[in-house]
Amino acid sequence: MQIAFFDAKPYDIPAFEKLGRENGISITFLDTKLNRDSVALAADCQAVCVFVNDRVDAEVIDRLHERGVALIALRCAGYNNVDIKHAFGKVHVVHVPAYSPHAVAEHAMALLLTSVRRIHKAYNRTREFNFSLTGLTGFDLHGKTVGIVGAGKIGCIFGEICRGFGMKILANDPYPVDMPGFAFVGLDELFEKSDIISLHCPLTAETEHLIHRESIRKMKKGVVLLNTSRGKLIDTEALIDGIKERKIGAACLDVYEEEGNIFYNDFSGHIVDDDLLARLISMPNVIVTSHQGFLTEEALQNIAETTIRNVMTFLQGDRLCENELCYHCGKIEHCIRERMGKCF
Ligand code: NAI
Repeated sequence: MQIAFFDAKPYDIPAFEKLGRENGISITFLDTKLNRDSVALAADCQAVCVFVNDRVDAEVIDRLHERGVALIALRCAGYNNVDIKHAFGKVHVVHVPAYSPHAVAEHAMALLLTSVRRIHKAYNRTREFNFSLTGLTGFDLHGKTVGIVGAGKIGCIFGEICRGFGMKILANDPYPVDMPGFAFVGLDELFEKSDIISLHCPLTAETEHLIHRESIRKMKKGVVLLNTSRGKLIDTEALIDGIKERKIGAACLDVYEEEGNIFYNDFSGHIVDDDLLARLISMPNVIVTSHQGFLTEEALQNIAETTIRNVMTFLQGDRLCENELCYHCGKIEHCIRERMGKCF
């Protein structure tokens, strides 16, 4: 098995190299992202391994299929960047459903604490021997209400962490779960009552721009908005206006709508050609991290192990790959995996 590994970063390579070698899989690590321009690099490979900002649209899938690529192995949970409907019948798609939901939930809390206790400002000040406290007043999290949109693996862990801080938990999810201390409510009620709103749902046609002008209008004045899920959940222009109008008190963003060509790259010596991102970063009450919620040693190891296991299961052919995705996913009545071992 030969795999073309797109958008490879130095922190990805050691675990994949080791596990690939142990399992007889040859991996070619490529700096470039997978897209229409780079798809030719997958020639002679049976599989491609991709991440969150590779663009695997219908054209890329057709060209992979023409070249004999049989498997797209996502080394992440979210798969909004892959046209899985178009892939059905052509190229199998597997993902890593959970590698460390704790990593992302803990990052969300790190962002929240940094923001509300002004740690980012204090850090810069004391490095310049400025020990003034003016402008650093925060607020207690204890007793505040957090609204969690998407109470899946990450959302539930984030909620438990918040409960440890003595916060009240409101949650919104089409499939409510039984979690101690969680009150499931409609989105409007969550927007109206939450002091902090944290997004943990996937990006779908339904959730794109879930946070827009009208939803911001319903929120409490001074609300803190956290997004560690996907950038397109938020309409960035509406967010910037909400901050300028002092409606949104702070925003903590690990993801950004147009992050694809920016995040994971070093532009420190360049002018970044994205005025909305530049405006956000210039705001004192906005913290941006570059999609690093997943980046812990535990998560990287789990990602590599699960991805290689997915590939091996696919290669062996006769076993059910529990992490295969198709556009029927979740619709039991259409599922042929139980009979066929694969989605098609
Ligand atoms: P999950 O599948 O366990 O949970 C997602 C939850 O969202 C489910 O309970 C689902 O019912 C709910 N949901 C779906 N549609 C919804 C809607 N319209 N409104 C409210 N809730 C809805 O997924 P998990 O592992 O908790 O991951 C959540 C998201 O986190 C992923 O989709 C991904 O976008 C993001 N993520 C971000 C990472 C980062 O590094 N920042 C790393 C890993 C995931």
